[in-house]
Formats: sequence, structure tokens, C-alpha cells
Amino acid sequence: MYYSDDLIEEIRSRNDIVDVISSYVKLTKKGSTYFGLCPFHNEKSPSFSVTPSKQMYYCFGCGQGGNVFTFVMKYENMTFTDAVKFLADKAGISLPEQEYSPEEKRKADLKSQLLDIHKEAAMYFYRLLKSDKGQRAYEYLKERGLSDETIKSFGLGYSSNYSDDLYKYIKGKGYSDEVLKESGLFTFSEKGVYDKFSNRVMFPIMDINNRVIGFGGRVMGDGKPKYLNSPETVLFDKSCNLYGMNIARGSRKESFLMCEGYMDVIALHQAGFNNAVASLGTAHTPRQANLIRRYAKDVYLTFDSDNAGVMAALRAIPMLKASGLNVKVIDMRPHKDPDEFIKTLGAEEYQKRIDNARNSFLYQIDNMKAGTDMSMPESKAKFYNDVAKKLLEFEDELERNVYIDAVSEEYMIPKDSLIKSISRMALTYEPPKNKYESTNIENDKAKEKKKVDKDDGIRAAQKTLITWLIDEPELYGKIKGIISPKDFVEKPFDIVANLLFEQLENGNINPASIINRFTSEEEQSEVASLFNKNLLEDMSLGEKEKTLNDTVIKVKKNSIDYRNSTVTDIMELQSIVKEQNELSKIHIRL
Ligand code: GTP
Ligand code: MN
Repeated sequence: MYYSDDLIEEIRSRNDIVDVISSYVKLTKKGSTYFGLCPFHNEKSPSFSVTPSKQMYYCFGCGQGGNVFTFVMKYENMTFTDAVKFLADKAGISLPEQEYSPEEKRKADLKSQLLDIHKEAAMYFYRLLKSDKGQRAYEYLKERGLSDETIKSFGLGYSSNYSDDLYKYIKGKGYSDEVLKESGLFTFSEKGVYDKFSNRVMFPIMDINNRVIGFGGRVMGDGKPKYLNSPETVLFDKSCNLYGMNIARGSRKESFLMCEGYMDVIALHQAGFNNAVASLGTAHTPRQANLIRRYAKDVYLTFDSDNAGVMAALRAIPMLKASGLNVKVIDMRPHKDPDEFIKTLGAEEYQKRIDNARNSFLYQIDNMKAGTDMSMPESKAKFYNDVAKKLLEFEDELERNVYIDAVSEEYMIPKDSLIKSISRMALTYEPPKNKYESTNIENDKAKEKKKVDKDDGIRAAQKTLITWLIDEPELYGKIKGIISPKDFVEKPFDIVANLLFEQLENGNINPASIINRFTSEEEQSEVASLFNKNLLEDMSLGEKEKTLNDTVIKVKKNSIDYRNSTVTDIMELQSIVKEQNELSKIHIRL
């Protein structure tokens, strides 16, 4: 259903955020802000704030925030559209009839049509599994130990062995081929249209709002490929979703279990470990790490016991740590993966393995040692040196000392010689560049790596500038001749900047209305964080002025570089050259 921006803003403004949140969370007023215990993470002292003047909430503990829609989506586990309906109802606003005129149908964007298609497909697969045709698939899942309840809660299904069953069904619902092509569920060829998945057990992949965005399909038996996954589409971005997250995020546990496969997640959930997630047969990415970090501080890796699983863990550790997560590694030997472990040894034994999980630093050292022949003096010396170098990665001295103790005891390395090596190396030490190397299950990582390499503080600069403008709108007058919305080239700052500059121009800043434009919780939270950083509190005027100029120049320079690399129009090129020349003259006074 498509609602106009005006209507959405009307609904938002008629639901005071303090009123709405008060009915869920006990709030206490301090100055112009209300505080309470965050409903989205476990805490004992209140760091969850609600600011009436901004009509926004923000938790200083877990970094979640947004407007009244975001809150309802998160708390009630609703989609954006459902939250709109819910709050319209609360405010006594009646919504337009749910009837699609051809005009509306065009307007309702591709994404919402694709969501509907995926939902229809998932229901279709599920019904088929439960029908006579799906008997073999149903038996397969039963043989693998899944209960009816588990099959239902993960919405597992079956894709028929006719080659265009799903296509006919979905087509019959009135969708155009143009849209169906974008769904990734069909193969269009000269000979006709075929279902991508046939005769497979189907695993719907859901986003954190329980919307189906893609599928994995497994052959029953030994065929190849064992798993087939949806391609990336407008809906399905593999780098920022995790299988099982829709359930795991509500588990309210302090940690997550990260595994490799669909079946591992499902087996763990069925055994009561409902905090298990898996990356979608692709590389582990920084965005997935950040998603986890929104809900928990600790993550346990429970990858396959084989060599590939060890390599995957070693690659994932630095990337997860870079997001601020504590990482531990579970040893499942002699079993292959969590699914098999649980099946043979049961949940209690698995819990013991969690309790005994290896600290990720020591796990890394274990693996360095595993490749070393300790009977050879040279390799032994090299191992000691490598350990010393690894210990240098701890910036915090206290933390480093704790590990020096642990390492010298566990590996019987004399402590004083370890300290000596560390001090010697510290003189020439350069911290490793964290490239967020990702695990290589499917080759998705080149793309991700490029994204990370490119960003040397550019996102941060754009973010800072936006936050600054919201905190101190007077600044707008000083920078408006220099910076324009098109200088914000990164998502979602491009959209935010457009809306914000318009509001600044009109002199009425309304952060909560900007959030309306984003319909996923993920984006809403990222945008909300823009409105809630007091970066300027402890700076002197001189420091502030320098920071501002550095930031503006960084944003401008990046924008010039970006436009320069994409320009096709001669007028635009001239304007870029002019802006380039003016770059060195920028000096804003506060
Ligand atoms: P089961 O054999 O069903 O227990 O699966 P598993 O999870 O033990 O399989 P495995 O460890 O082989 O694979 C882990 C994950 O990698 C799967 O869940 C898939 O997401 C992905 N994967 C495995 N095989 C393939 C494949 O052939 N193609 C693709 N694209 N992905 C695969
Ligand atoms: Mn398995």
C-alpha cells in the first residue's frame, strides 16, 4: 500500500513520541529530555532517551534510535506499513481504502511488489510441502529431525518438480514479467520462463522485520549444487542480512551464535539456542557485524570443524572485533557442524562447548602454533616473535598485560623474554590495516573490500557535517555557498542532506520527518544516529573551526572526485574545475 509523504508526516506528528513510548517504557524527565531503561538491550541504569523537541528517541547504550515509527516497528516487530496503520489508528486518522487503482499500482514501488511476490512464493512453497506433492520433502525434513513447529516458524517449503509451477502461480496473481524478472525467482530465456528453484526444500530468507527477501533451496540427497540461493536483488542484499536474525534479535540474549549454514541455525533454534544466525552462504561482512553489534556485545563462532571452517573463523575474527564485538570460538570436534553435534550429543553438551569457547585471540595463537614445528629452534623463535607481534595489536596496556600473562603460561613462553621482544618490536611497529577480510564461502568479498578500502573517513565526514548542521543550524548560513546536498554522495546521507537542506532553507528543522522517508529499521536507525551525537560539547572555538574546515574540505573534495569520475556533461565538468580551484580557498570562520 502506498501512502503519501504528507499523510505519513501527519500520522507521525499526531502521535507524540513521549506519549507513545510511555505506554511501553517508564520514562523520567530530566531537563528537556526523558530517560528510561532501554527496551532493546539489557541494562540496569537508564541510557534510553526520548527528546520531545526532536520527536526522537536514542539509546546511548546500544546506539539504537529513530522516530515514533521506528520505535513501534522495533518494539511491536512490525513492518513500516503496519506501524503506519497502527499509529494512524491510535490517532484516529482514517487511511485511504486499500484498493489498487492502475495509477496507484504504478506508484507502489518495485520493492513492495517484490516483497509481495516473495511472500506469495513462500506461502506457496509451504503449502506444497504440506500437500501430497511435497511428501518426500516433508519426510526429508523429518528425517533431519525437524519438528512441525520448527518447519512452521522458519516457513520451510518445497518447490515442485515442474519447471514453471511457481511462475504460473505468481503470474496468475497479475504481476508483470518486468517485475518478475527483478525477483530473481525465475529464469527468462528464449525458450520460455522457468522457476529458478525446482524439486528443492526451500528456506525462505527473512529480513529483521520478518519479510521474505530471498530463498535458499537444498536438493534432497546428493545432487549438485547442494544449495541454490537467490541472487542479489533490489530486496536482497546479502552483505547486510543474516539468516535467522529475525528471530534471534528477539532472543534478548547477550550473545549471538554465528554459524555457516541454514540447517545449523535451524537445529540450534530447535534445541533452544534461538540466538543463532548464519551469513547467507557468502562472505561475512562488516555490515553484518554491525547488525549483530546492535543487539549484543558477544559473538560465538560455531563454524564447521573442517579446515575451511577454521579459515573462515580466522578471517571473520578481525572483522567482527573491528565492530566492537567480543569474539569466541566454539570447538565442535569430533562433529562436523552444530547440526550434527546437537543431533548426536544434545543441547546440554553444546551448552558446555559454549561455556568452554576459546577466546578469539588465543584461538588465533593456537592456529599460529599449529603450523609450527616446535622442535626446530628457528621455527620456535619465529613463533615467539609472531606471538609478540600479535600482542602488540592490543592498544590498551592493561589488556595486553592480561594476555601476556595468559600466553606465556599457556604456551610456556618465558614472560620476561616475551616482554623484551614486545618492547623491541614496539619501536618499529605499524598497526595492521584492518581490511575486514571476509570468509570465502561464495565469492562476494571483492566487492565488499572495495567499499571498505575506498572509505577513509569519508562517510564519517559526511555524517559529522550533517549532525553538526542539526545541532547548530546557524552554521547553514556559513556553508551554504560552499556545500550543497549533491556533495553528500554516500547513502543514506544523500537523501538526508536533500531533505535537511530544504528544511534549513525554510528555517524549520524537523528531524523526525526526515526519518519517515526510510522504511527499514536498519536505515531508520542509521539516520537517527545522525541526530544524536553531541560532537561539539568539549571543543574550544579554535578546535571547532579547524574541525569544521577539515570536514567541509573532505566532503567537498570527495564529492569533486566522485563527480569527476562520473561526469559526462561539459557544463558540469566546467563547474567541477571551478569548484576544484576554489577548494584551497575555503576558510570558514566561526
Ligand atoms: P547440510 O548438508 O544441509 O547440513 O548443509 P550444511 O549447512 O552442513 O552445508 P555446508 O556446510 O556444506 O554449507 C554451509 C552453507 O554454505 C549452506 O547453508 C549454504 O548457505 C552454503 N552452501 C553450501 N553448498 C552450497 C552450494 O553448492 N552453493 C551455494 N551457493 N551455497 C552453498
Ligand atoms: Mn550440515
